[in-house]
Amino acid sequence: MSEKRKNSRSEIERLRQKIREHDHRYYVLNEPTLSDYEYDMLMEHLIRLEKQHPEWITPDSPTQRVGGEPTKAFPPVIHEIPMLSLGNTYTQEELYDFEKRIKNILPGEAFEYVVELKFDGVAVSLIYQQGRYVLGATRGDGVRGDNITENLKTIRSIPLILFSKDNQPVDIEVRGEVYMTKAGFKKLNQQQEKSGEKTFANPRNATAGTLKQQDPRIVISRPLNFSAYYLNVRGGKSLEDFNIKTHFDSLHLLRDLGLPVSRHSALCKSMWEVIDFCNVWEEKREDVPFEIDGIVVKVNALDQQRRLGTTAKSPRWAIAFKFKAKQATTLLKEIHLQVGRTGTITPVAVLEPVFLAGSTISRATLHNEDEIQRKDIREGDTVLIEKGGDVIPKVVQVIQEKRPPNSKSYTIPKHCPVCQSPLVRFEGEAAVRCENIACPAQVHRKIEHFASRGAMDIEGLGEALIHQLINNKIVSDYGDLYSLKKSDLIGLERMGIKSTQNLLDAIEKSKTRPLDRIIFALGIRYVGSNAAVLLADTFGSIDILRKTSVEQLDAIEGIGQTIAESVNQFFHQQSNLKVIEKLKKAGVRMEEERPKKKGGIFREKVFVLTGALSRFTREGVISLIESEGGKVTTSVSPKTDYVLVGENPGLKYRKALDLKIHIIDEDTFVAMMEKAKKKQYPENSQLGMHI
Ligand code: IVH
Repeated sequence: MSEKRKNSRSEIERLRQKIREHDHRYYVLNEPTLSDYEYDMLMEHLIRLEKQHPEWITPDSPTQRVGGEPTKAFPPVIHEIPMLSLGNTYTQEELYDFEKRIKNILPGEAFEYVVELKFDGVAVSLIYQQGRYVLGATRGDGVRGDNITENLKTIRSIPLILFSKDNQPVDIEVRGEVYMTKAGFKKLNQQQEKSGEKTFANPRNATAGTLKQQDPRIVISRPLNFSAYYLNVRGGKSLEDFNIKTHFDSLHLLRDLGLPVSRHSALCKSMWEVIDFCNVWEEKREDVPFEIDGIVVKVNALDQQRRLGTTAKSPRWAIAFKFKAKQATTLLKEIHLQVGRTGTITPVAVLEPVFLAGSTISRATLHNEDEIQRKDIREGDTVLIEKGGDVIPKVVQVIQEKRPPNSKSYTIPKHCPVCQSPLVRFEGEAAVRCENIACPAQVHRKIEHFASRGAMDIEGLGEALIHQLINNKIVSDYGDLYSLKKSDLIGLERMGIKSTQNLLDAIEKSKTRPLDRIIFALGIRYVGSNAAVLLADTFGSIDILRKTSVEQLDAIEGIGQTIAESVNQFFHQQSNLKVIEKLKKAGVRMEEERPKKKGGIFREKVFVLTGALSRFTREGVISLIESEGGKVTTSVSPKTDYVLVGENPGLKYRKALDLKIHIIDEDTFVAMMEKAKKKQYPENSQLGMHI
């Protein structure tokens, strides 16, 4: 090896080691010693060197956290040692019963316990071979889980190489919980909302939903953490071979190996210490930055654990003490109907404010009419509410004894509370809807969405101002924003000369947002920011998009039937076209040259079109072909790959026959697109929507 190569090689190793150390300090110990900038510089340097020497890239390099391509399905993994669940207890008595049971099995012995926070996340297993992370799996049914190695690899607190010293195990299985902090969850939901995607009900759902993603690039963008609580040595050895005799020791070893282990675990000499720990943490549960739903109590000595054994479902040596659900009772003052952006009506319980698990609650969701009926919830009822880690508390049940004598059962009004137009409920749908697109409530939400950060990003156009603009009949849709004049704004509440000018500047600036943001801003039902990017990339113009058929839309990789139908419907409504006309007149960007996909199923293929197409518009089909890397030319030559023929084809068809060029009809074209789409997005996954 030349001197230069040797130097690069050791430089790569040095950088990797530094980055690993920093990851450990930052993500595991929470004690960063480098600034973000210094860290980014190290990473950039490493990426540069690895680009020069791709032969030296190893899967455990810190640059390889996102290594894998999207997978179609997760292969199964059989757990050598089943991943059991835990029995639950809710009271002190039940904890003493647990102790009684183990004392019956091992009479006369003394017990020590380890108590740990019970993370409310998703259990996973990690396998390390020769100190290197090689496999990660979900619990599944306990015996058979999913191989999610690539997804777990993106979690920076999971070391890809263990920090082992001599005489430490290197073939191990680690189990623990993947979870999201409350702050991380909140931020993720804000982002989801901003980009028009489904928000998650609680951090656990968000974690589970993220680990199910087939694309590790999405996973790495989500704030996942890991905490280890179980260690097993593989390869014919046991923990005892490494002089580890207790669970508490194994937690320390896990920490030494570089894994994140909760700092809140403790050793208890007796059951009353355990109970004390449980009580203290039940009080403090809101102070931890992540959700916990109880305490796990484990017999400390591994030898005793082994002799206690397991039942079919759970170990006899461990048990969970579950915290009481976060519930409270309060008065339901009224049922308020909220009108959403697309007219969906959501009933909301307006409550007498009550303090519950760290915050004051004054509203709770009631979901829909059926739910209210099923629980027979009435205005004036005293209700039990619960905050189950969910963002919005829910009404669990009515306290019947406290129901006032004159109460009436609730039915959703027949008319919109804001615009009084009749409410409709479509077959098979749970929600009732206000169909009046000019309904001020809908208009309000639409403008709010239009101006939001992920859409047109019009700074200074807040809720109060939108309210005034609508109430004073200055605007009746988002298209009107572009004809606002100074005189319209000055004099409105909190609108001075400066703020008026700033707002007008912000509106002007929004005209040149990228096309996908504009499509997203239109507020087409189900079109989140991802789908908007696909539509912008494929069609490059709102006029072309407007004329597309459902089939044409459905043929796009990543766009499903629901989105396709919704887009089509949107552009068939006169009122929407009128608003778009206003945007166009104002000079809002209506088309954009978008970078073409490098890959795509028609990469470098040349198409010629002839005859009248019945399922597609000409412009639409050209966009589709181009978005998949193909090209459309006007005349048939030996370089042509496909001739797409419609009704009454012309001379080009003859020429294609002569030159023996591949002739396809619209059905075949659709089938080709479909096939490619299935390959990329298995089952029913649709970008822009979470299932
Ligand atoms: S020990 C056999 N420790 O709770 C021991 N589990 O109902 C099984 N969990 O599936 C796990 N924090 O997802 C253990 N400190 C902790 C835990 C914990 C959360 C979860 C885990 C498990 C479930 C058991």
